[in-house]
Amino acid sequence: MTITDILHKTDLNKEEIKTLLSAEGEDMKKLFDRALQVKLEHLDNYVHLRGLIEYSNICTKYCLYCGVRSKNPNFTRYQLSDNEVIECAKLAHELGYGSVALQSGERSDKEFTDKITHLVKEIKKIDNGSLGITLSLGEQTEDVYKEWFEAGAHRYLLRIEASNEELYYKIHPHDAKHDFQTRLNCIDTLLKLGYHTGTGVMVGLPFQTLDDLADDLLFFKQKDVAMVGMGPFIPHPDTPLWEYRDQIPSAAERMELTLKMIAILRLMMPEINMVAATANQTVDPMGREKAIAVGANVIMPNLTPNEFRENYLIYPDKACVKDKPDQCQTCLDVRLAAIGHRVLYNEWGDSLAFRKKIKDKR
Ligand code: 5AD
Ligand code: FES
Repeated sequence: MTITDILHKTDLNKEEIKTLLSAEGEDMKKLFDRALQVKLEHLDNYVHLRGLIEYSNICTKYCLYCGVRSKNPNFTRYQLSDNEVIECAKLAHELGYGSVALQSGERSDKEFTDKITHLVKEIKKIDNGSLGITLSLGEQTEDVYKEWFEAGAHRYLLRIEASNEELYYKIHPHDAKHDFQTRLNCIDTLLKLGYHTGTGVMVGLPFQTLDDLADDLLFFKQKDVAMVGMGPFIPHPDTPLWEYRDQIPSAAERMELTLKMIAILRLMMPEINMVAATANQTVDPMGREKAIAVGANVIMPNLTPNEFRENYLIYPDKACVKDKPDQCQTCLDVRLAAIGHRVLYNEWGDSLAFRKKIKDKR
């Protein structure tokens, strides 16, 4: 089978995915062109925005890749006040973003989960519930996920990080706090509760193989998720995986591999949302645009007040840390227009896949 034959299939098997992941030169360009074509056919040239609020960097876990892991003492821990969160959400509304994403280090104590319920309800009050709410707050019990859903959050992001259990335990400690099966169960629970569920992986991790990456894509398809976020792994000096920084592909290679993952997944799941992760922009100044041009359709501009951003460095040299939110908006409009895309303002921007699923259930 030629590359062109493979590019016109949607039910790609593992071997075909691996062929595409290995594509170079002209073949890679064909993959990228086809992925863009598929996206434009199904979703047009719209990009959805989620105003990202990095609520707190207090984290009870210690994932081996993450700069805000609890065992890193080298920065100040913070939690935004209720007022700061609401102001961010109001700003998102004023800027026409249509939705916000509340992200935080992982905590599951009742004080925290109650606080989130309260904040979700408060954000929902802005202009009679006009903002969509995505949560990205890690692993929680079914009851907590349910409480937040009932309070008004309807999307949730929980990356599997690596769908191969063995690899998962190479990038996480192997203990009760970092349990692969729990993570899988959480994703299943979110799907069951009716959340617009997003997951994803890091690309270019130490020990990660092309087989792993192909299996990650098959995992997303099998779970039938509504949204996927994938970005290059960026070694952080205050984490255990820093030690392996010389054993991973170069930054350019990690970027290229991420773009191939996005493009292939667009062929496999034409109607899902895919985010052009900020990590792409950190590795390559044009990384987000490149991701959009090969199949991604969501961007999460940072709305966290600037004074806190430097303390939310899950990886070093994060992009846009010094930009003010309104600068970000103009910058995005211009950058996207340059690649023939446009922002869809004032909409929640759920994936077409999710909207169809909801309709089928009714
Ligand atoms: N490099 C790239 N991405 C990272 N994340 C965490 N640490 C890193 C890193 N060092 C990603 C994880 C997490 C998301 C919030 O950020 O995939 O789910
Ligand atoms: Fe905070 Fe992994 S280090 S969730």
